[in-house]
Amino acid sequence: MTPARSAVVWGIRYGLPGLAIRTAARRGDLIARAAADPSAMDDPARLYADLRALGPLGGNRLVGATARHGVVNSILRDDAFRADPGGAPTQWLNKVMLAAIDPRALGPVDAPSLLAIEPPQHNRIRRLVTHAFTPRAIAGYTDTIREIANGLLDRVAARGGQFDLVDDYAAKLPVTVIARIMGIPAEQHDQLLGIGNDAAMTLDPALTWRDFRAADAAIRRAGVMLDEHIANVRRRPGDDLLGELVMISEDGDRLTDTELRVNTLLLLGAGFETTVNLIGNAVALLLEHPDQLAGLLADADGWPNAVEEVLRFDSPVQMTVRVAQRTTEVAGQTVKAGRGVILHLAAANRDPDVFADPDCFDVTRPEARLHLAFSAGIHYCLGAQLARLEAAIALETLFARFPELATTAPPTRRRTRVLHGFERFPVAAAARVRTAERQ
Ligand code: HEM
Repeated sequence: MTPARSAVVWGIRYGLPGLAIRTAARRGDLIARAAADPSAMDDPARLYADLRALGPLGGNRLVGATARHGVVNSILRDDAFRADPGGAPTQWLNKVMLAAIDPRALGPVDAPSLLAIEPPQHNRIRRLVTHAFTPRAIAGYTDTIREIANGLLDRVAARGGQFDLVDDYAAKLPVTVIARIMGIPAEQHDQLLGIGNDAAMTLDPALTWRDFRAADAAIRRAGVMLDEHIANVRRRPGDDLLGELVMISEDGDRLTDTELRVNTLLLLGAGFETTVNLIGNAVALLLEHPDQLAGLLADADGWPNAVEEVLRFDSPVQMTVRVAQRTTEVAGQTVKAGRGVILHLAAANRDPDVFADPDCFDVTRPEARLHLAFSAGIHYCLGAQLARLEAAIALETLFARFPELATTAPPTRRRTRVLHGFERFPVAAAARVRTAERQ
């Protein structure tokens, strides 16, 4: 994209909304602070309670917002609303932006990404990719995930057991799994991780020009890599998801090259930019609650519910947005066509109407699975079962092998507002290793 076209896209999508959000946040507007100010998360329970106190549907001049479980759930399932995270505040601005955007720079949240399209196009593409993510298909990845987890832990053990939980384990595991499912060669995995980190920023509403340029460059690098890979797969389709998608696309109902590239980017990005946070958040919570960890070590059947409780209590995706496509009623209020509503998934997951004592972390909580961490409705996370399985195996394997795992310095959070997880998480596999280091 020429610098001028990039500036138009950035200005409409992030620059103008970002300026308005930051100005409102400086004035103390809660909805703006929640969307753009990382310090709003210094006390999540307080932030979530304040957001819920806005009522069933709050709002400011720019946007509406809800943190009530029932309202979030019903908007997600309501066809009066559409999901278009890249949506501009007005339709004509959106059209200018779409005209300026370079097809080679389309990222994982741009149409025709599943996340940004609606039926009938959404049904068609979702149907084509779904069969790789059925419960049966996912169960078939169990041994592969366990083997990958053990391989990564062998490596850190061989290096003396001091490692960064995020870099060396939580990030590597999901990227290796999804890349294997998609048939991406091993030598490209590290490159993918770098691209994901930069591109993940595009989910945040007030992205700076500098971060936008980094994300744009990362998406282009990924696009070039994927185009090459897709061309190879078209010549020799393998026994993997990309091979299947190429074959399906040659069978009447074609996926275009752009549909294939953008949705592969989405599957890769969604596949590892979120699960990394789930695993990191889970380890942090379990180290803070050693009694609950001890219970899980004694009874491994508790891991799946523990994963649900982490998703509820410390949600990796904090919020999403829907835009009213026609004037409609929500919780007794009129929402005008074109108005965006921020849906606070993480805050809804602490709604006391649904979860007893919601600010208490409890891996045995019976209603944990009612959380909205994977969204709901037609955009419900396609990879939810895979993420659940990856996290359960990653945690069970990690703590079975390193039951004395402990932090060696305070972990630090990522500065993104939509995705919520750790950036650095230094740990030692055993107290012995730490003592030896200090001597
Ligand atoms: C802890 C891990 C994960 C979390 C918390 C998560 C969360 C989400 C959320 C909240 C949405 C919907 C956003 C919206 O409604 O606006 C979503 C959609 C999606 N996720 Fe995930 N995700 C995770 C892992 C994965 C994995 C492992 C994959 C694939 C390998 C994946 C693939 C997708 C796809 C393709 C969509 C778009 C679905 C559609 O629009 O039809 N996700 N995810």
